[in-house]
Amino acid sequence: MREKILRVGVYGVKRGSTHIKSIAFLDNAQVVAICDRDEGAVEKVKKFCPSDVVICPDYDTLLEQDLDLVVLANFLPDHAGCAIQALRKGINVVSECLAAVTMKECVDLVEAVEETGKYYSMAENTPWGTSCLELRRLYSGGTLGELSYAEAEYSHPMAPEDVVKVRPTADHWRNFMPKTYYLSHPLGGLMNITGLLPKKVLAKVTPDYTYAKKRGFPHADSGAILLVEMEGGVLFRVTGCAHFGAPSGGMRLACTNADAELIRHQKQRVSLTFAPWELPKEMEHAGTHVEYYPPIEADVQAVISKGLSTSGHNVADFRCVRNYINEIAEGREPDMNVYRATAMSAVAILGWRSVLNNSQQIEIPDFRDPAARDQYRNDDLSPWRGEIPYYVFPAK
Ligand SMILES: NC(=O)c1ccc[n+]([C@@H]2O[C@H](COP(=O)([O-])OP(=O)(O)OC[C@H]3O[C@@H](n4cnc5c(N)ncnc54)[C@H](O)[C@@H]3O)[C@@H](O)[C@H]2O)c1
Repeated sequence: MREKILRVGVYGVKRGSTHIKSIAFLDNAQVVAICDRDEGAVEKVKKFCPSDVVICPDYDTLLEQDLDLVVLANFLPDHAGCAIQALRKGINVVSECLAAVTMKECVDLVEAVEETGKYYSMAENTPWGTSCLELRRLYSGGTLGELSYAEAEYSHPMAPEDVVKVRPTADHWRNFMPKTYYLSHPLGGLMNITGLLPKKVLAKVTPDYTYAKKRGFPHADSGAILLVEMEGGVLFRVTGCAHFGAPSGGMRLACTNADAELIRHQKQRVSLTFAPWELPKEMEHAGTHVEYYPPIEADVQAVISKGLSTSGHNVADFRCVRNYINEIAEGREPDMNVYRATAMSAVAILGWRSVLNNSQQIEIPDFRDPAARDQYRNDDLSPWRGEIPYYVFPAK
């Protein structure tokens, strides 16, 4: 029997273009419709779509296109509402980061997935990077020992002249995003490697007045540092979207026997360091410390040879897209399901409340438990609507 080809619609074709390009390499999915009001962006991605792709004027029209799946790569604060609308029409949903921006949205999203029984996942690409997969392999292999502490950061400073590219209008969502909110790259990576759920958060913000002044920003918040207590008491230190230092994405798993790290400023390079007294027999030939670039697996190499670009995080994006398409095709539980995606969103939302409340520690509800949802059912406070401040340090 021929495998069904999933009919995919993509909403937002800037970041959405990476989903479109990846799907073009898959046999079991096809982009049948796209929607973006930016005509230039639509023109750019058309060549990666089938020639009969439907270009929709708005989201409602996109959802009318007999879709199996809609990919949400539109404005971040709109994701949850768009996801719920699609789920209620019987359409599976993949959402870009972040899943939700208020606690009420987290509850509503979980309940829409439960009530409709449709597939929902958040497409966090960091776990699908070559080095992140290697850390996962090392961790699950058991030689590292018990995880006690982990850290991961994502710092994305930009040259002053480039800032406008990602904040094209004065009312763009990135101009009003508190620093804890864009945390899915570091936290998603660690959650995926360890399988742990967050239980408590406390956070602080750092300032950089010079960076803000050079870019004309109204505030000087340059990054958030979040301490996240995970199941079993394991502690994670993660950043939100920071812009301190040079661009970086380091990661460290500190375990009983060893440190496994994705080395900061050395893209995809992994280091593994054992305590001398815990060096496993099979590592004796290499010594206590090794550094290496993990290889890309053969089936992805085959896609690269067909034209998949290896620049930026395209390879991670491809693995992420292939994974969600296969999860739907095979009826599998999503890797980043709605409970994990909303727990991560709650760390961002409540992490910001912690910042605003003198770094108070706040519990993360377990959205699998209906009673835990009730506390937040009507909590719709949004920094984007001006109901709470979105920064701490005014620019000087
Ligand atoms: N995982 C990653 O590495 C990564 C990288 C970049 C962005 N993202 C995520 O992707 C999403 C999109 O970010 P982006 O960088 O593409 O920038 P963006 O948010 O500026 O782009 C969104 C696109 O959606 C379109 N859009 C929004 N509302 C619309 C509407 N009502 N009708 C028609 N079109 C509409 C816009 O025209 C725009 O082209 C965000 O949620 C962001 O967090 C993820």
